[in-house]
Amino acid sequence: MYDPFDKNNTNKAEPIILGIESSCDETAAAVIRGRKILSDEIASSADIQSLYGGVVPEIASRAHTDAIAKVVEKAVQNAGVTYADIDAVAVTYGAGLLGALLVGVSFAKAFAYALNKPLIAVNHIRGHLAAAYLHEQTLQPPFVTLLASGGHTAVLYTKTESEFEILGATLDDAVGEAFDKVARVLGLKYPGGPNIERCAKEGAPSVPMPKMLKGGGGYNFSYSGLKTAVINYCHTKEQKGENYSKADVACSFQCAAIDVLVEKTVTAAKEKKVDTVTAGGGVVANGYLREALQKACNENGLRLVLPEKRLCTDNAAMIASEGLVQYKLGNFAKMDLNAKASIPLSATLKTVQNQK
Ligand code: KG4
Ligand code: ZN
Repeated sequence: MYDPFDKNNTNKAEPIILGIESSCDETAAAVIRGRKILSDEIASSADIQSLYGGVVPEIASRAHTDAIAKVVEKAVQNAGVTYADIDAVAVTYGAGLLGALLVGVSFAKAFAYALNKPLIAVNHIRGHLAAAYLHEQTLQPPFVTLLASGGHTAVLYTKTESEFEILGATLDDAVGEAFDKVARVLGLKYPGGPNIERCAKEGAPSVPMPKMLKGGGGYNFSYSGLKTAVINYCHTKEQKGENYSKADVACSFQCAAIDVLVEKTVTAAKEKKVDTVTAGGGVVANGYLREALQKACNENGLRLVLPEKRLCTDNAAMIASEGLVQYKLGNFAKMDLNAKASIPLSATLKTVQNQK
């Protein structure tokens, strides 16, 4: 078995990490050996949340409490390992809904304590970034990464598995947030992103969108103007009693929101002279984004490592993957680990070496 305190690294067996995720409405657990996924379980309360038009924190916490023990047990069983085989327990400690996070953190602490295993605190967004390592097990930085989630939008230079440079980020709303808000205006149900994508398939990019998204701001983004333009368009039409095509609005918004991400990611990769691009975060599950990014990478001679859709939306395998990065650094958490509702991107990307 891999010994975390084997300083000379004489023991070469690959560590087995249990990942636990409960930051929003998904209760997830996964087991990986090295970068190989052995199991990946998810119980979602999205169907209940959909009745309320968004995530109700109390409902999410209760659903996590009901599901967590069963989900973890299933993940360990389906991985074909025993509790004793697990080398460390990695858990999302932030950012997210505090009550929801606390369920995962408390469970992971108890689990690690009872089994005498090291505990690893994982930042949710670092998990999204580490999903790419599961998709391509030999992947090594440097590369340029597009982060497009519900809370963050950024283009990063990934120097090593734990060192990042923020090349640009959103100045206001995150792209996922814009998808969710526009979905609400169009009367589409929660979760907004996938429903906008579905609706956009029936439409054409015929509604004019603000030009500001196209150029300026280096690698920075701004989604608040785009969101407001869509809201104004719909409200004006409604006030005048004119019909408009929701599908055309969804399609036009989706193109405007995503084309800029693709354009800036590829430009950054060329400027940084890397040959590889990766992407992570819930919005990367969007089919239009996946096709557009692949096409742009092909045209520019860049290799795209694109995690499959289920590894882009919230899951525990990505938490275990980042857990592995921290495990190799010897970054173990203490039993007083607490959940954190918000963590700035700059702190998210900062690695504190050897906390143990
Ligand atoms: O990365 P994520 O789990 O959120 C954070 O960790 O912040 O992703 C959630 C976001 C939501 O805003 C959701 O609407 C969006 O990802 N999303 C999508 C799609 N699937 C999820 N956006 C566009 N198209 C999709 N298919
Ligand atoms: Zn997420």
